[in-house]
Amino acid sequence: MTQILHLTASARHGRSLSRMLGARFIDGWRRLRPDDVIVPRDVGAVPPPAISENWIAGAFTPEVERTPEQQDALAISDELIGEVVDCDLIVLATPMYNYGMPAALKAWVDQVVRVNKTFTFDLTRGDDPLAPTLAGKTMVLLTSSGEFGFAPGELRSHMNHLIPHLETVSKYLGVTEIHTASIEYQEFGDARHESSVALAQDRVDGLVGELTKSLPSVAA
Ligand SMILES: Cc1cc2nc3c(=O)[nH]c(=O)nc-3n(C[C@H](O)[C@H](O)[C@H](O)COP(=O)(O)O)c2cc1C
Repeated sequence: MTQILHLTASARHGRSLSRMLGARFIDGWRRLRPDDVIVPRDVGAVPPPAISENWIAGAFTPEVERTPEQQDALAISDELIGEVVDCDLIVLATPMYNYGMPAALKAWVDQVVRVNKTFTFDLTRGDDPLAPTLAGKTMVLLTSSGEFGFAPGELRSHMNHLIPHLETVSKYLGVTEIHTASIEYQEFGDARHESSVALAQDRVDGLVGELTKSLPSVAA
């Protein structure tokens, strides 16, 4: 069986293109693998809190020694990390806001990438002291942007702080394989946008076909 964490980060609902791609992936998956478990987490609709002094102090304090305030601050982090630990596949649908990820998604990242939970820190490892504690997860990263040319080698690749950032931090969630599909040109609303939508939808359908074959099924 595969457990999917379905994350959505757009502040928009009905008109959101990244949500549309995420929903398309999940609908396609359900058709082929109805017994798999899908866990939705809509950080666009309900943004996680920003981390706090109590959160940071608590994360560096052994569990039995934490104050009630530190325990409270870490409760949502424990819940969100649990969803990551339990999943095999993270389907992350997000817009580009100001050339990076929405603040609500960054708040989720800050809650789930946590010392002694999703990574360890050990100076005996020399110049590379951080090591993830999880491994073997796949991520499908579905994005939408108003402008275009964010792919490697294109016009605005140097301005893409969305996909490279998520690729970097997802390592600390145990992600070892990432697939992307991106809609561009949303603000132009022209034929290039339509073609970009169609290509991204085809890519999503292809990823459903590919990953339903490679990820564990009920029978496995
Ligand atoms: C607050 C905000 C900031 C945005 N910043 C960018 C940006 O930096 N670059 C870009 O190409 N598009 C930007 N856009 C356009 C969105 O990426 C585009 O509308 C995308 O389709 C939104 O995703 P959604 O359709 O899932 O809501 C921005 C939109 C908003 C609302």
